[in-house]
Amino acid sequence: MELSTILPRIVGDNVLHAKLLNTLSLMENTGARKISACEDPVFVTQIILKHAAEEHRHAFFLKKQIDKTNQQLPTYAADYLLAPAYSKFYLNSLDIALSRYLKSELGLSGGQLRFGAYLLVTYAIEVRADELYPIYQQALNDAGSKVNVRSIIVEEEGHLEEMLKQMKDTWPDWERHANKAVEIETGLFNDWVVALGKEVA
Ligand SMILES: [Fe+2]
Ligand SMILES: [Fe+2]
Repeated sequence: MELSTILPRIVGDNVLHAKLLNTLSLMENTGARKISACEDPVFVTQIILKHAAEEHRHAFFLKKQIDKTNQQLPTYAADYLLAPAYSKFYLNSLDIALSRYLKSELGLSGGQLRFGAYLLVTYAIEVRADELYPIYQQALNDAGSKVNVRSIIVEEEGHLEEMLKQMKDTWPDWERHANKAVEIETGLFNDWVVALGKEVA
């Protein structure tokens, strides 16, 4: 099932919709914590601080939108999520796969490996966010929902540009690494969509 079929079905059902918001909040929070974990305590830049702050804001913003569905999902416990296992492991699996790639391909370790993983993981996620949130917003518009994610879309577009700049500044052959990141992410994301589809079947 395509995302453009799955998301309208979810938006049309308050319980599923609340769980989707909670799930996206969880994934944003995982991303935010990942960025924070990669920060160098001395050399962290303004771009990285801004990025971490905005991802944390997305997690909070999505959680707050749940109120508009008249549901109460106080925690990220599995019962309150859609496709909980896939949603929890998506980012960790991506991180592990890309860290492995950077170790074997570029021989990175320590702080350089952490920064490299931040670049590739976050880049791949931003490419995905720029595709996913507009499809979701379209479903919200079509349903006349009170929920909206426009402020997230604007910030995610900024993030993608910032990730591209940072990758270009770091690696002359950044495109090769970027393609690898997107290739690995696509496999994981497709598994997530299949799991999401089962929730609405
Ligand atoms: Fe985000
Ligand atoms: Fe982002």
